[in-house]
Amino acid sequence: MTELKNDRYLRALYKQPVDCTPVWMMRQAGRYLPEYRELRAQAGDFLSLCKNAELACEVTMQPLRRFDLDAAILFSDILTIPDTMGLGLYFETGEGPKFSHPITSKADVDKIGIPDPEGELQYVMNAVRTIRRELKGEVPLIGFSGSPWTLATYMVEGGTSKAFTKIKKMMYAEPQTLHALLDKLADSVVSYLNAQIKAGAQSVMVFDTWGGVLTPRDYHDFSLQYMQKIVDGLIREHDGRRVPVTLFTKNAGMWLERIAATGCDGVGLDWTINMADAKARIGDKVALQGNMDPSMLYASPERIRQEVSTILDGFGEGTGHVFNLGHGIHLDVPPDNAGVFIDAVHELSKPYHG
Ligand code: CP3
Repeated sequence: MTELKNDRYLRALYKQPVDCTPVWMMRQAGRYLPEYRELRAQAGDFLSLCKNAELACEVTMQPLRRFDLDAAILFSDILTIPDTMGLGLYFETGEGPKFSHPITSKADVDKIGIPDPEGELQYVMNAVRTIRRELKGEVPLIGFSGSPWTLATYMVEGGTSKAFTKIKKMMYAEPQTLHALLDKLADSVVSYLNAQIKAGAQSVMVFDTWGGVLTPRDYHDFSLQYMQKIVDGLIREHDGRRVPVTLFTKNAGMWLERIAATGCDGVGLDWTINMADAKARIGDKVALQGNMDPSMLYASPERIRQEVSTILDGFGEGTGHVFNLGHGIHLDVPPDNAGVFIDAVHELSKPYHG
């Protein structure tokens, strides 16, 4: 078993005692950091950063040099899987990701194969191996993937969407086509995450950014069911340690019990639910990750500390909480405010432990 100097993040997910509450931030590496913008300009674009293990490693390390973070997250993107499936991923400035060949029919789905993680996606595994070497056991490394539903929204809509009319049309008019796509994506995610674990990811997280746009029944059938397949297929122990899996569906406060029942170790929470309510509902089953509104990082240091204290108080005493934002950090947040946030979590959480 590889020694870790700081294993608070894993301990909180295992619900073992910690000295203070661990914290990391979704999108902690990225555009709010000037050193990221500089490296991206040198590399040319975002995908070139992802596809070069040395650069992806450097970007992963950037926030760790500035802040006292308790985990590193692989620098990559959820759209690496559909990119490899031949959909032609590109990024247009200010418009987010786009696909030049979106999925429109059963014939398109039939053409898709399950990517080989040590083949077409080897650049991701190389990044994981490079980052683990560079981390030197300081903090654990989180690997990640998108959920099948969230990946499918981008693949069918051809990019970011507001109303999701194309994928919902497929869901209601041609459900078998969508199920065939989701099933292939679930198999792809299992093999991708297991390869990340073998390459050195010590925990994994599944981002279901768009599950919350579904009806309760469709959430089960088209999103959760496939995340269940992932949880069931993952390597849960590696290098002598349990590999915790965290599921995060944005806007899913109403479905927490169902998410916790998948057998995952952690459930990610956005800011639309009170920490105390979430803990009362599922805190006996799983660890909780979250859940400060990322927009709070625009506020004064006093206000940020006050909000951290409110959320810590909502969770109350003991382990089982990984502090985080309720979604990714905004790109125009002053980096110093992120530092205030992270230090506040460590300092203000001590009285809740031991
Ligand atoms: O958290 C981290 O620091 C790790 C890196 C990471 C990125 N994307 C880097 C990135 C992670 C975990 C993701 C996940 C991701 N990607 C999700 C799920 C989480 C979420 O935010 O809901 C989604 C939906 C995507 C798809 C995606 N990639 C979008 C919608 C965008 C555009 C976002 C925007 O604000 O323009 C991306 C690009 C992207 N992924 C960037 C980064 C740092 C910005 C690229 C750039 O311009 O430099």
